[in-house]
Amino acid sequence: MSTLGMAPSVADTDTARQAFTPIRPGHLIDKVNGKAPKVLILGGGPAGLVSAYELQKGGYKVEILEARSRPGGRVRTARKGVTETDLDGETQTCDFSPGHFYNVGATRIPQHHITVDYCRELGVELLAFGNQNADSLVYYDGDTPLNNSPVTYRQAKADTYGYVSELLTKAMNNGALDRELSKDDKDALSEFLSRFGDLSALGAYKGSSRAGYVGASPGAGLDYGEQRTPGALSDVIQSGIGRNLSFEFGHDQAMMMFSPVGGMDRIYYRMAEAIGANHIKYGAEVTGFSTGDNSSKPWATYTRNGQEEKVEADYIICALPPHLVLRLDTDLPKDLTTALKEAKPFSSGKLGIEYSRRWWEEDQRIYGGASNTDLAIEQIMYPYDHYNSDRGVVVAYYNNGDNHREFEKLTHKERLNKAVDLGKKIHGDEYGKNISSSFSGCFMKTRYSEGAWVDWEGGSHSHNESDAYKKALKPVGRMYFAGDHLSNSIAWQQGALESGRAAVTAIHDRVTA
Ligand code: FAD
Ligand code: PHE
Repeated sequence: MSTLGMAPSVADTDTARQAFTPIRPGHLIDKVNGKAPKVLILGGGPAGLVSAYELQKGGYKVEILEARSRPGGRVRTARKGVTETDLDGETQTCDFSPGHFYNVGATRIPQHHITVDYCRELGVELLAFGNQNADSLVYYDGDTPLNNSPVTYRQAKADTYGYVSELLTKAMNNGALDRELSKDDKDALSEFLSRFGDLSALGAYKGSSRAGYVGASPGAGLDYGEQRTPGALSDVIQSGIGRNLSFEFGHDQAMMMFSPVGGMDRIYYRMAEAIGANHIKYGAEVTGFSTGDNSSKPWATYTRNGQEEKVEADYIICALPPHLVLRLDTDLPKDLTTALKEAKPFSSGKLGIEYSRRWWEEDQRIYGGASNTDLAIEQIMYPYDHYNSDRGVVVAYYNNGDNHREFEKLTHKERLNKAVDLGKKIHGDEYGKNISSSFSGCFMKTRYSEGAWVDWEGGSHSHNESDAYKKALKPVGRMYFAGDHLSNSIAWQQGALESGRAAVTAIHDRVTA
């Protein structure tokens, strides 16, 4: 039945991501008597590339105009030889050892994102990405003995969950929840809290092996190890060591998480290869466009190798960042340009340091994941590849908003020095030793991005329903729009890929209507 299209296949019933039906080869050709329409795609980031890739499967002619000399847009991987000149004129060339890298932009993929499906389809192998690590650290400023020095995640978790469970148990036993809970409810909750907090028979938190040991773990014979003493109740609460424990509860941040072997940009190099070099013009900076209508074809102008060129098509998909579209010479209606102004670019960036010794593994037994802090660096991310080898690239900051702006205004060398000074507070002097090279990326200063992602007025990464957002979703004449900013997965490749597919579906529906 499903083969005949009369019942959903097992895959179709699985999750929303299977709702997209790639255009079947030959299907389009049947519908329009062998004349394949041409779709011009502006931008070779994930949204533009996936549009071309899926349209091509259906027999459409595609051409991509991409200003940079590479595919992937904000999916950037720093590895040996990668060069970037920031808008302020500073050039960095990455000098990491062969095989070592870090992802300047996108780095993690949750298992439910269609990004994983494209990796499978394109033969891009995945590695587990440690988004949570019991042995990484938290470091927060404050007035308790648990502040201004590193605490392991496992300790933060054990103590926070332990005391919260104890307090709730006490409140319940004192009758504070009698109006909300029946006797049976209370028994069940008590049972849950006892396990969740590792409580004593009397419902108290007395510490737990979950918090780890001082020095070595228990050994052979009579070596029981020295279990870590819990922080005092009020210190645990006031220190805020539990403030980031909810990060991993996020729909898109929960383990398992993945990342491609060799760097995130592998996905788009493979996709570009599949599309074919003759369908992608790199170094082609779009300068303007006309959206076309029933009687006229849409076109775009671009500069390439110093020449001004013009290209026409049956349809255009504009997959450029919205704030950059506003600078082009276009015939977009005023209500749309007004709407696009409500997509505000956001500051974010990272700095990677290659160390010639994996001290975080050798000395501290941290294998992947990230340490979090309220220092301006926000987090330190440890490599998820080359475990136990002789070197590796640590992300010394991945920070956002005001915290990133503190680094944005600095030269690369100054960023490195500041990142190392702050990192030493968490990892000690070792943090400044054995540094072999470094590379930083700042999206506000990156040409053809000028922002890490956008925030829509009144919306969020996962829910946008403002009038401006809805206006930006609509095609104009023969032009369709795509990009993560037109999705409810902003700042995720998922959003860009879904949005590209939506543009493809809309064009195909129109062509075959
Ligand atoms: P872009 O990637 O921005 O592509 C737009 C393209 O247009 C670019 O190639 C650009 O060069 C081109 N362009 C711009 N102007 C012109 C012009 N005038 N002419 C021609 N071409 C032009 N996603 C995840 O899945 N996981 C993550 O962990 C993750 N982390 C992130 C961390 C950071 C710091 C950042 C910045 C992004 C992260 N993302 C992550 C999000 C992901 O990178 C984006 O969602 C995705 O790149 C958006 O794709 P896009 O095609 O919409 O836009
Ligand atoms: N998707 C990006 C990341 O995981 C940006 C982001 C960070 C989005 C945190 C939401 C929350 O790093």
